Amino acid sequence: MSAHEQLAPGETYPGGPAGTPAAAGKLPDPYDVDNDVCVEMSQVVKRFGDNVVLDHLDLTVKAGQKVVIIGPSGSGKTTILRVLMTLERPEEGFVSIHGEQLYHQRRVDRWVPAKESHIRRVRRNVSMVFQHFHLFPHRTVRQNVTLGPRKVLGLDKDHANALAMDLLDRVGLADKADVHPASLSGGQKQRVAIARALAMEPRLMLFDEVTSALDPELVGEVLAVLRDLAQHTSMSMLLVTHEMRFAEEIADRVVMFDEGRIVEDRPPHEMFTDPTEERTQAFLQAVLRND
Ligand SMILES: Nc1ncnc2c1ncn2[C@@H]1O[C@H](COP(=O)(O)OP(=O)(O)OP(=O)(O)O)[C@@H](O)[C@H]1O
Ligand SMILES: [Mg+2]
Repeated sequence: MSAHEQLAPGETYPGGPAGTPAAAGKLPDPYDVDNDVCVEMSQVVKRFGDNVVLDHLDLTVKAGQKVVIIGPSGSGKTTILRVLMTLERPEEGFVSIHGEQLYHQRRVDRWVPAKESHIRRVRRNVSMVFQHFHLFPHRTVRQNVTLGPRKVLGLDKDHANALAMDLLDRVGLADKADVHPASLSGGQKQRVAIARALAMEPRLMLFDEVTSALDPELVGEVLAVLRDLAQHTSMSMLLVTHEMRFAEEIADRVVMFDEGRIVEDRPPHEMFTDPTEERTQAFLQAVLRND
């Protein structure tokens, strides 16, 4: 049974409170909350059929940290972000965001699968920017940014518009507020998508190869926005990117990921100049050759 299947009242998580993570001594203690930790993934397993995409993953991101994830195609990088965004549910393990369990709720002395309302509430701390923008085509740029704050955060129209204009200004697109996405370049669309994600006032931002679909001459303007956020905000950021020079500049840590597991986790300069693992060396050689 997967963690998100509905349980009958009184039924507990598979294996009860001593389910897999507990047996490994990893059952999170709800009273042991470390406010300095933004993300804690503990023994997370995600499978698609027989394909184990996240294989007992442990990953911690401290509050305010900027962490870059690198690794070969199909290694599970996007899946990590999608699990944090609740777009994929893990079969095993625990995920917490700022000390709150995302997929579990405490019932007296045991963890049970969380209700949708709990998941939605905890997930509000998280925003994601995708490779292919996913803007609403029939809405103006401003409406793309105000929709979430109005519907989810309950902001009134004036307040949401003021917030949107501030954020569009931050990404250099205040003059495009009233146009539709179709008239924008790829780089501009991605900057709108970033403003839209910021409008939810997240504590954690996830970026999944947000420059990979862009023409090369448009990459710089998006990286400039990311650099501004990384250097001038206290948000935690988890970024999947192949832009190694950029990663070196802004990341606190670079995590090399392969076959559902972390291969190496180091400060960027060390990772890029002196990787210890053979798998990392081979990957970096291949990527840097194309850089
Ligand atoms: N919805 C899905 N259904 C079935 N398999 C999936 C699904 N999503 C991802 N996978 C598989 O999970 C594995 C990891 O995919 P994921 O997209 O996380 O990799 P990635 O590291 O982001 O790769 P890339 O660098 O190409 O974006 C791949 O084998 C992929 O085929
Ligand atoms: Mg991916």
